[in-house]
Amino acid sequence: MRIALGSDHGGFHLKQAIKEYLDSRGIINHDFGTYDAGAVDYPDYARAVAEAVARGEYDRGILCCGTGIGVCIAANKVPGIRAALCHDTFSARAAREHNDANILTLGGRVVGPGLALEIVATWLDAEFSGGRHARRVAKISAIEDVYSCRKGQGGKEG
Ligand code: RB5
Repeated sequence: MRIALGSDHGGFHLKQAIKEYLDSRGIINHDFGTYDAGAVDYPDYARAVAEAVARGEYDRGILCCGTGIGVCIAANKVPGIRAALCHDTFSARAAREHNDANILTLGGRVVGPGLALEIVATWLDAEFSGGRHARRVAKISAIEDVYSCRKGQGGKEG
């Protein structure tokens, strides 16, 4: 599995801990930044990671900011992305099994590294259940198709 990683300054330390964890498991990952704790704008990093996942260059992405909310909102603007903010393992598993979430977001100011790494492990190891959930995820994609300005402009259908 190939993972795209990114954060703003609020999620920087958590992103570093997640990178160490991925490395320890031998999971291929690329860090799209930020690379220090200086203040930056979270949409820039969310966009880079989300676009890389949407292009298929990475299987999934993990994004951190202070709350996990900003990067989640921004990533979900990219067609094909289903980003889920999870601060518990039940949600992390369901995000994969029910929602086929291809990006996990976390708040570095909300959860400590111990819980965060359990959430990451749960999300990494869970798979999409398909079946009735596939029908529902397809309906999410249908909404995206209606509102995506890329449709018919060299994007998905181009
Ligand atoms: C940055 O201060 C903070 O707003 C950001 O990390 C994130 O929490 C936004 O949703």
